[in-house]
Amino acid sequence: MEAAERVDAVFRSRFGSAPALLVRSPGRVNLIGEHTDYNEGFVLPMAIDRAVWIALRARPGREVVAVSLDFAEEKAFDLDALHHSEAGWLEYVKGTAWALGQAGHRLAGWEGVLTGDVPIGAGLSSSAALEMASARAFAAASGLAWDPVAMARLARRAENEWVGVGCGIMDPLIVGSGREGHAVLIDCRSLEMRPAPLPPGTAVAVLDTSTRRELTGSAYNERRAQCEEAARRLGVKALRDVTPASLEARGGGLSDVVRRRARHIVTENARTLEAAAAMAAGDARRLGGLMSESHLSMRDDFEISTPALDAMVECAQAASGCHGARMTGGGFGGCVVALVDEAAAPAFLDAVGGRYRERTGLTPSLYLCRPQAGTSVAVRRE
Ligand code: GLA
Repeated sequence: MEAAERVDAVFRSRFGSAPALLVRSPGRVNLIGEHTDYNEGFVLPMAIDRAVWIALRARPGREVVAVSLDFAEEKAFDLDALHHSEAGWLEYVKGTAWALGQAGHRLAGWEGVLTGDVPIGAGLSSSAALEMASARAFAAASGLAWDPVAMARLARRAENEWVGVGCGIMDPLIVGSGREGHAVLIDCRSLEMRPAPLPPGTAVAVLDTSTRRELTGSAYNERRAQCEEAARRLGVKALRDVTPASLEARGGGLSDVVRRRARHIVTENARTLEAAAAMAAGDARRLGGLMSESHLSMRDDFEISTPALDAMVECAQAASGCHGARMTGGGFGGCVVALVDEAAAPAFLDAVGGRYRERTGLTPSLYLCRPQAGTSVAVRRE
């Protein structure tokens, strides 16, 4: 049974009649532009055909009652008494309610059933998918206007201040503003977005190493602090304001580590802009080449790759039909993204799976992803 049918069916049996609304909120994969978002730079992600689903209806009063099919639990909270409980999926729903409340929105309660097929902790933004799904559910139940950019800011606030992860704006923004058939070039300073079509005849493969990040929180925050230090020492607001040439000329006063961190960011911004131009020109070879260069920069300068990620990138690059590959997301585990010829894609996945297993002894999950529209809600009619 499809996810939408499953949440619908469980809603009927648990809450006694049909749900009024069905929310779908996709995960995302980033083609290029890693760790550039909190440096006010450029990213080029796409929303994917894996998502979080919520079947729901508004309920009188101020309570939210939610059933998670994936965790096989039912939980509830009171919008007038929001407080942290043990970590888990409900904290993302609650954190979103908190951020909406902080922004002055008066929320209605709802009852709903959730499921999702965005792998958790794989770097495909299952948490932003759930936060934006929750925001869409609250907005629909409470009669609020839906502005995906404003909601993405609130979802980031939920993640930063309620969940306690210092992430940037990329994930909720692309989750809310994805475009079918396209990646989206996002300027993380102005939040201007420009759709970028996949080159004709290509497909995007997501290659999950089946390793999960560990200690990312601290490593992520450390990278962030190093970037901020570089910007401070270079006398700019953010590393967005530094070009590769000016870093070359003025980076002498930085420590070796901080200079390499800054070099990743400034070269990654340049690569991301060039990648968007390559997409506009339909140039798969150039786009793939930039993705592979990005991986080296993350491996050597930003140091967020792992042996499993490097092995997967090498297996992908060696397989026929591959234009380029890189680790994607925050790093330290999770997925590689590859640009491949559509016609060669099934053979590519077979070859990569075999090689990766042989090399690492691990069993990966490999799949093609199609770019999808962002978070949406459908009104259900009986
Ligand atoms: C995580 C964060 C994003 C971004 C990426 C790295 O996914 O949530 O904001 O910083 O890492 O590009």
